[in-house]
Amino acid sequence: MKIIIIANRLPVKIERSDDGFNIIRSEGGLATGLGSLETESDIYWVGWPGIFTENEKEKKEITERLHDLNFHPVFLSADQIENYYEGYSNSTIWPLCHYFFSYIEYRADYWEAYQQVNSLFCDESMQFIEDDDIVWVQDYQLMLLPKKIRDKKPNANIGYFHHIPFPSYELFRVLPEREEILEGLLGADLIGFHTHDYMRHFISAIYRVLNINCNLDEVNLDNRIIHIDAFPMGINYEQYNQAPKLPEVKVKSDLLREKLGERSIILSVDRLDYSKGILHRLNGFAQFLENNPDYHEKVSLAMIVVPSRDTVDIYAELKTKIDQLIGEINGKYSKLGWNPIFYFYRSFSFDELIAMYDVAEIALVTPLRDGMNLVAKEYLATKCNRPGVLILSEMAGAAIELQDAIIINPNDTDQIENAILQAMNIPAKEKKERLEKMQKRISRQDVRKWSNDFVKELLSIKTQNKEILQK
Ligand code: G6P
Repeated sequence: MKIIIIANRLPVKIERSDDGFNIIRSEGGLATGLGSLETESDIYWVGWPGIFTENEKEKKEITERLHDLNFHPVFLSADQIENYYEGYSNSTIWPLCHYFFSYIEYRADYWEAYQQVNSLFCDESMQFIEDDDIVWVQDYQLMLLPKKIRDKKPNANIGYFHHIPFPSYELFRVLPEREEILEGLLGADLIGFHTHDYMRHFISAIYRVLNINCNLDEVNLDNRIIHIDAFPMGINYEQYNQAPKLPEVKVKSDLLREKLGERSIILSVDRLDYSKGILHRLNGFAQFLENNPDYHEKVSLAMIVVPSRDTVDIYAELKTKIDQLIGEINGKYSKLGWNPIFYFYRSFSFDELIAMYDVAEIALVTPLRDGMNLVAKEYLATKCNRPGVLILSEMAGAAIELQDAIIINPNDTDQIENAILQAMNIPAKEKKERLEKMQKRISRQDVRKWSNDFVKELLSIKTQNKEILQK
């Protein structure tokens, strides 16, 4: 039995070099979680290598090198990247699932490409899938895939995990392809979400769109039982918790602290995305500066924005707006030797990021919608040297587990201002208590537990389904 993970992206970064390519493994949450699966089985990945090439020789070289890592690349053409990735995935489904109703684009060519690429992933995966294998499909780019695989391999163990929010029926119903998407997902044996709310919305959609009744968290379809469950994704807690003690990280954080002197840092880290509420957060911070001059020269916001999807128009426009607003705020409040905002538009290495988490007194995590938000968990896990306060949006899936954070509505500028004030003045004892409670929770619900729970449940459903068929 093998485990085959199918995701839009492989967990690698491929860079062109003078003599070919450098392939760098990126240890994102998913890759770490799956790496720590308690299983004897071999794990294979199928996914887009994130690089565009139409040169067959290059494709061959990348494929061979990735095969050594048990990764199988699915190459996408320029047209597929435009219409499947930037189009249906990120200009239709992404805004739909994040409640950005007016950003949703309805285009026949996007839908066409989405179906075509889901079929392409199916064909590529068929080279590996044998009857007893576990196939685990990841995320919204591949929602048609469970059914496509089921049609070809009726006995496969198929799981699907949705990493982003699932919207309420009243929003989901606007999608012209709502039936096909739900039918695609129901090809799986187990469908997982981060929270019970997303799960509830999904169940209500299958009842109202497909007129299929769900018995609590089970659907009976064509002699199969399909389970729907919540698996809140975690992080590699130990890795983050130990990292600030590493000598190479300590050098960095000590240097940062020395440079900052007595000044406090409020940290924010996101991919560039409108769902992250970056402009709302900047407005909240600006209001805090306006109304609280006592804090000038005492605190700065360090804003890390990781470039993402910048070929999609709305993302490129957002980048311009962020640049402008930061310019305005810094232009208005800066003093010689003090900037209210330090702005980094690039990704940070693991060590650099840990050093930032370590020195930051406050983390300001205020997405307008977020499936989970692992930055909030990473920040808390890293707080083993210096305590810290988490300000967290109630719209992030993580807020359900992290109720000891200062929870705010990210649309309310007053709440952002007040939360910063509260965080700056929180008594040391309370700060420690809140932090420890949350650390305890996320250390138990880590990414290893997330992936193991999912696979265990998938296997137990399969046993149940076999018994039904034998009756
Ligand atoms: C979110 C999605 C992932 C996606 C990631 C980065 O976390 O749930 O599926 O891979 O964003 O986005 P990108 O478009 O760069 O893959």
